[in-house]
Amino acid sequence: MKGVILAGGSGSRMRPLTRITNKHLLPIYDRPMVTYAIEAFVKAGISEIMLVTGGTHAGEFLRLLGNGEDFGVGRLLYSYQDRPGGIAEALGLAEKFVGNDKLAVILADNIFGSSIGGVVENFTRQPGGARIVLVGLGEPDHLSNLGVARFEGDKIVEIQEKPDVAPSSYAVTGLYFYDPTVFEIISNLTPSERGELEITDVNNYFVNAGSMEYDILDGYWGDAGESIDAYFEVNDYVRSNGANK
Ligand code: DAU
Repeated sequence: MKGVILAGGSGSRMRPLTRITNKHLLPIYDRPMVTYAIEAFVKAGISEIMLVTGGTHAGEFLRLLGNGEDFGVGRLLYSYQDRPGGIAEALGLAEKFVGNDKLAVILADNIFGSSIGGVVENFTRQPGGARIVLVGLGEPDHLSNLGVARFEGDKIVEIQEKPDVAPSSYAVTGLYFYDPTVFEIISNLTPSERGELEITDVNNYFVNAGSMEYDILDGYWGDAGESIDAYFEVNDYVRSNGANK
């Protein structure tokens, strides 16, 4: 399985910090944010990785990660997104790298308390389609900043992106699994109202096709790019508890 780490975007919610660096290079406890995504993949046995980034600080990723050897990556490739056209657009840049393999995608601002190895294994066993990872969250305000699953029984029937009223308390984390048909789906997407190719549209395609599976996370999850407050909450958590354990 190939791994794709998405570290582009505009970082607008983290300004002015992101005027002088890329959001995913900001520290989480004692190291740059992006290294947690790399560690999550490497610990789960995914060692062929493409990092997609963009903007004016893209070169700093090369200075930090080099060829990936120091971080346990077998093969590290880079791609450059010309403008922040959305998560699905960024993923589309990995098409040639992925080829006919299955792939795991992680948003580089997502931090997982526990190993993602079990979920990776579940997708290895899945014959095709897609898989997402949900986390139960208490606060309605938090849910309205995220993708949220709507269920009928225990089946996901829709994912709503940043809903005013959340259809459940299960948010969609930024860890996604796809078979290689995802690239054809991306090529047929149209931009959303905010002008981006949305990963939630990709996921709803698989939901409607009946080939979306899911896991529910029981450990900690944080989106360090959601706001400055979320960034510091994730820092506090990692400083006390570590990550990817
Ligand atoms: O963190 C989980 C959430 O991530 C999900 O619940 C949502 O369904 C999903 O849409 C996404 O929401 P965000 O509002 O957090 O997405 P954001 O625009 O902040 O982008 C998240 C990461 O994706 C960002 O840290 C880097 C990458 N990205 C984003 C864009 C817009 C790119 O690489 N390129 C892009 O053009």
